[in-house]
Amino acid sequence: MSKLLVVIGVTGTQGGSVARLYQTEPGWRIRGITRHLSKPSNAPLREAGIELVAADLDDPLSLDQAFKDANAIYALTDFWQFLQIPAIHEEAAKTGRKPNQVAMDREIQQGRNIVDAAAKQLRTLDRLVLSTLSDSENWSQGAITWNLHFDGKARYTDYLKATYPDLASRTSYLQMGSYLNNWRMGPLFAPQKQHDGSFIFPAMAVPNGKAIPYVDPPNDTGYFVKALISAPAGTTLLGYGELMTAEQFVAAWGLVLGKEVCVQSLTEEVALAAGMPAFMAQEIGESGEYATTYGWDGGDPEVKHPADVGVDVGKLTKVEDFVKHEDWSSVL
Ligand SMILES: *[C@@H]1O[C@H](CO)[C@@H](O)[C@H](O)[C@H]1NC(C)=O
Ligand SMILES: *[C@@H]1O[C@H](CO)[C@@H](O)[C@H](O)[C@H]1NC(C)=O
Repeated sequence: MSKLLVVIGVTGTQGGSVARLYQTEPGWRIRGITRHLSKPSNAPLREAGIELVAADLDDPLSLDQAFKDANAIYALTDFWQFLQIPAIHEEAAKTGRKPNQVAMDREIQQGRNIVDAAAKQLRTLDRLVLSTLSDSENWSQGAITWNLHFDGKARYTDYLKATYPDLASRTSYLQMGSYLNNWRMGPLFAPQKQHDGSFIFPAMAVPNGKAIPYVDPPNDTGYFVKALISAPAGTTLLGYGELMTAEQFVAAWGLVLGKEVCVQSLTEEVALAAGMPAFMAQEIGESGEYATTYGWDGGDPEVKHPADVGVDVGKLTKVEDFVKHEDWSSVL
């Protein structure tokens, strides 16, 4: 009988990548979790033979159903989507907290719901692969306190390890690097054309900063998850296609497109001056400071690189290829 891989967010960037790879993997069948079964984007998945079930990370009972009989689970939460929800901002205003603090609490709760539900499937479950990020407050020894899209994931990872040792003994962790498509998040993250035709590209760049792990989630996530399902449990993998400084990334961009380009360090001050709300400017500024000062993984010596865990690194997206295939017409 084939093994069952349950994928959270199967219509999303990371989950979609995992599903596409496992669709053709002998011996596996896929159950994809989506919030809405009637979405048009579900049709190609169904046609590919993927079982789709509706579940909501805020609804523990729905997760119990969705994880039933799983042999492997790929699980993730999405911090940024909370900031699109008006109720999060209303709650922040009412309670005198920042929207990203409210989002972090919600993300932690969803992560705990995932962990609680997975812990009920130990009869069949061999591997939980949890998308997480390093604990920046811890690894920076308290210097970084507003990298909340990292630290919420670290909090529910701590919860898993402390609460469910048996589940922890079957879990591996994927720390996804910096998305190559982050420039699409808005004008502040995109290359900006100057009057003389040259460009300024805002990025996580500081002199002598640590290299950034760049990743193309739609293509690469599946390869990481596949490697972690085979590798011994307890592995933490830094998911990236290429590791380079932001200056090198920006230079590669200019070289491929034949443009003159300068990097601009995307600090909290720069983000504020460009009109970003204060809470976001702080989050973006501190995450860049963390990644360049301590490293994306905080310098955790346990963290493995793709080649260490048997990822077919030749299939991962290289920065040059990403730049070549991306449509930059909106900024050029
Ligand atoms: C916290 O950081 C210390 C090093 O300062 C490290 O030994 C420990 O494993 C880290 N813990 C977590 C949960 O990241
Ligand atoms: C990922 O990209 C590589 C290189 O372009 C390609 O060979 C591979 O087929 C892609 N993988 C998927 C799953 O799309």
